[in-house]
Amino acid sequence: MKNTRRLCSSKPIVTINGKFPGPTLYAREDDTVLVKVVNRVKHNVSIHWHGVRQLRTGWADGPAYITQCPIQPGQSYVYNFTITGQRGTLLWHAHVNWLRATVHGALVILPKRGVPYPFPKPDDELVVVLGEWWKSDTEAVINEALKSGLAPNVSDAHTINGLPGTVANCSTQDVFNLPIESGKTYLLRIINAALNEELFFKIAGHNLTIVEVDATYIKPFNIDTIVIAPGQTTNALLTAHQKSGKYLLTASPFMDAPVAVDNLTATATLHYTGTLSTSPTILTTPPPKNATQIANHFIDSLKSLNSPKYPAKVPFKIDHSLFFTVGLGVNPCPSCKAGNGSRVVASVNNVTFVMPNTALLQAHYFNTPGVFTTDFPGNPPHVFNYSGSPPKNLQTQSGTKLYRVGYNETVQVVMQDTGIIAPENHPVHLHGFNFFVVGRGVGNYDPNKDPNKFNLVDPVERNTVGVPSGGWTAIRFRADNPGVWFMHCHLEVHTTWGLKMAFLVDNGKGPKESLIPPPKDLPKC
Ligand code: C2O
Repeated sequence: MKNTRRLCSSKPIVTINGKFPGPTLYAREDDTVLVKVVNRVKHNVSIHWHGVRQLRTGWADGPAYITQCPIQPGQSYVYNFTITGQRGTLLWHAHVNWLRATVHGALVILPKRGVPYPFPKPDDELVVVLGEWWKSDTEAVINEALKSGLAPNVSDAHTINGLPGTVANCSTQDVFNLPIESGKTYLLRIINAALNEELFFKIAGHNLTIVEVDATYIKPFNIDTIVIAPGQTTNALLTAHQKSGKYLLTASPFMDAPVAVDNLTATATLHYTGTLSTSPTILTTPPPKNATQIANHFIDSLKSLNSPKYPAKVPFKIDHSLFFTVGLGVNPCPSCKAGNGSRVVASVNNVTFVMPNTALLQAHYFNTPGVFTTDFPGNPPHVFNYSGSPPKNLQTQSGTKLYRVGYNETVQVVMQDTGIIAPENHPVHLHGFNFFVVGRGVGNYDPNKDPNKFNLVDPVERNTVGVPSGGWTAIRFRADNPGVWFMHCHLEVHTTWGLKMAFLVDNGKGPKESLIPPPKDLPKC
């Protein structure tokens, strides 16, 4: 624990090696990475290497009660995995309760030695981690909300590399300063590590060239505003084309839900070195709250960089065609006084996922009965057709249900935001795979017409994708990684409410197609 001061008050926070945000980890494509995590706090801990595929090494993936039991106080665990065929910017974060509020950092994977980037070599590289800050203890915030059945408090500030900027009078020293030199080009590795907020990121007086998202290269394009959801990463080239001065960087929330009240913009400064620091900061206007058009323009511009070196392997023939409704619902809760006897829940196909008491991957590997079932529905219980008036019964059923897929089978998932309680953008993250985003639309998905418009040529490949407010997103992937793989909304509040499920991918026939045996120090529940 480390006492940390922001917004005029201090609180003890859980950190890795005393740092907030945590240390940046550097590796190269195809490196084997060993990280020993020693738990010196009173909380359970587990670390997820967000976006690392973990081919056959699900034991090192990290989500508590999914692939491992958490590391208990006083215990340790060595994460051991190989970064196969991936390079770019990812992140690592705690994956138990709301601990990732303070336990997160960058994971930078450089290309293999001697392999250049597919864009002009930058003069320098900079990591920009976006986050959120609560004045109170985040575990208390969510526990209180679960008791009352109501939505948890929103954060007190957003942060850029751990600092909120000039949001409060007392925080004027808490501003991240990025020194740059005129004429040089920088690769910004931008990470959204916030718990619950999609963010707009922009720099006054400068455009950005986007070259990579979620550690996959894309066709470069120029833009002035980036939209980035929790769990997503974006690499952008910044050319220092101005001569001098200070320019404002902003990270401001993209609030598409009518109930959201978290409107604070984090600021940082870009400072041309060698020029007067007293020169005026050139301001930028953050996008308006519901700048859906700006977001759509950014998202629609993302196309994978296809080349013989980076071929897109979009599955054409689909073995499992799934339709998932994702959204919020209401369940009875007699003890929830504040919520008038009911509580907010979230679900996929009306199933609110219940965390088991032991890890699913172990239960699968050792054939422990009674931990999970494999009857996760591939379709919602009622044909989904939202016309604006919410259905009477918003209740969901609870269960630890997995969807089973054979090794190397192909999967298409169309995810539809129900918009029943509130239309909200859900950034859905899949562990163990990258997927192709083949389609996206507003309103109800039409299974007869929409597939004709799918992009099977150069769809962007990612690990986290937004299901738009009141709309849908279609993804495809090949299940070439055996194990138990979590899929969930990366807005932590929605995960807590149950917007999560898991895929169970069988072993293949060959020894190279099977899960490796569990490591000896794998934590016990
Ligand atoms: Cu970045 Cu399951 O999380």
